[in-house]
Amino acid sequence: MALTEVDHVAIAVKDLEAAIAWYAETLGASVAHREVIERDGVEEALLAVADSYIQLLTPIREDSTVAKFIATKGEGIHHVGYRVEDCARALNQAVEAGARAIDAQPRPGSRGTTVAFLHPKTAFGTLIELVEE
Ligand code: CO
Repeated sequence: MALTEVDHVAIAVKDLEAAIAWYAETLGASVAHREVIERDGVEEALLAVADSYIQLLTPIREDSTVAKFIATKGEGIHHVGYRVEDCARALNQAVEAGARAIDAQPRPGSRGTTVAFLHPKTAFGTLIELVEE
């Protein structure tokens, strides 16, 4: 498997507008893309950092995994997205190597990407997203 780039670092926040304003005022980072991802129950704001992004994530529903994350762990780093050329192949290779997949098959992500998540239990405590553009 070849990871081609750190696609994004996802940060769970309670107040998306406040977080966007903080990143703009404090770090000069501006929003490149915003999207509501209904199936995941989240709204995201992608802040451009060179060829990668900071993904600010906020829950839009109580039953969203990000809502549960914030309730148990508080705000903070939620997952790391690694860019790959072929999500299905990268997922298969990771599973063959012993990683536990959350997604059995790649699925649509935001901004037209194809994504799959690997469970933190077999990834040294970090939720990992494989991102194919
Ligand atoms: Co992500």
